[in-house]
Amino acid sequence: MPGTRFHKFDHKPRVIVTRRLPEAVETRMAELFDVTLNLDDHPMTTAELRAAVAEAEVLAPTVTDVIDSALIGAAGPQLKLIANFGVGVDHIDLAAARARGITVTNTPGVLTDDTADLVMALILAVPRRIAEGERLIREGVWTGWSPTGMLGHRITGKRLGIVGMGRIGQAVAARARAFGLAIHYHNRNRLPKAIEGPLEATWWPTLDAMLARVDIVSLNCPETPETHHIINADRLRLMQRHAFLINVARGTLIDEAALVDALEAGRIAGAGLDVFEQEPAIHPGLLGRPDVVLLPHMGSATFEARQEMGEKVITNIRVFADGHRPPDQVLEDY
Ligand code: DGY
Repeated sequence: MPGTRFHKFDHKPRVIVTRRLPEAVETRMAELFDVTLNLDDHPMTTAELRAAVAEAEVLAPTVTDVIDSALIGAAGPQLKLIANFGVGVDHIDLAAARARGITVTNTPGVLTDDTADLVMALILAVPRRIAEGERLIREGVWTGWSPTGMLGHRITGKRLGIVGMGRIGQAVAARARAFGLAIHYHNRNRLPKAIEGPLEATWWPTLDAMLARVDIVSLNCPETPETHHIINADRLRLMQRHAFLINVARGTLIDEAALVDALEAGRIAGAGLDVFEQEPAIHPGLLGRPDVVLLPHMGSATFEARQEMGEKVITNIRVFADGHRPPDQVLEDY
């Protein structure tokens, strides 16, 4: 917030980290902070998180921790910063944090390219049936090449509809252009011509209109109250029967039960999912389907990204403890 004054620490901040982080990051944190690490990497229970917020001056959580208003209500007055390891902050009640005067930071930018790469991997994998083909070989049932075997769909020349044209959406668009896809996007605000131009991107002010016209839909927006179940039964009905749905953002953007119904009824052609509504549980209706590719929330899972995410967490804590606005402060209207 403009005018906000940040608390300057006169001691090493007391930091509690909720999951294992890359070793070099943990070592640096141990040098810089009065830190408690989670060396056995178990996801913390609510009771453990409550104990952590009662003691920590800085909590460094991840997407697997639910930092809701009840937990924030249980925080002691010493908790000043939630320095999230990850870009998405839908697991943190930002309004409750703000009401308690707790600053929240995240780790944007450093996972953009890796996440966009995974979107491309799914854009290729689903129409070209890559996972299905791989299973055929491992199951020992491939009988050799044939003119009609394993036919999929060409992606060159198809229309890609990107929902959410922030950093990751734009990185997906740049890659998809190189594969010959036409770029369409739906975003609250139209992008400046300087960005739209090189991508030859077409802006759709309404999502419904775009969904009816594109061949592949990629979800690249954050989970917020407005985007929760942004792909529901009605929107799935708007999509074309030959269209594919890709989601590397948050599972809760899709009504998974409605997606299973749509796939079963042949109302869309397939889906590539890296995130799920109830992680790590997967809707049973998805598991046996050959027309979906399922990945274990690995968009940012590169050594490089996880290291840089950790470095961002450290920088945010250091700058904050020094009494300054941390570089990646998350504001409520994110
Ligand atoms: C992110 O950074 O939001 C990833 O999904 C992991 O939390």
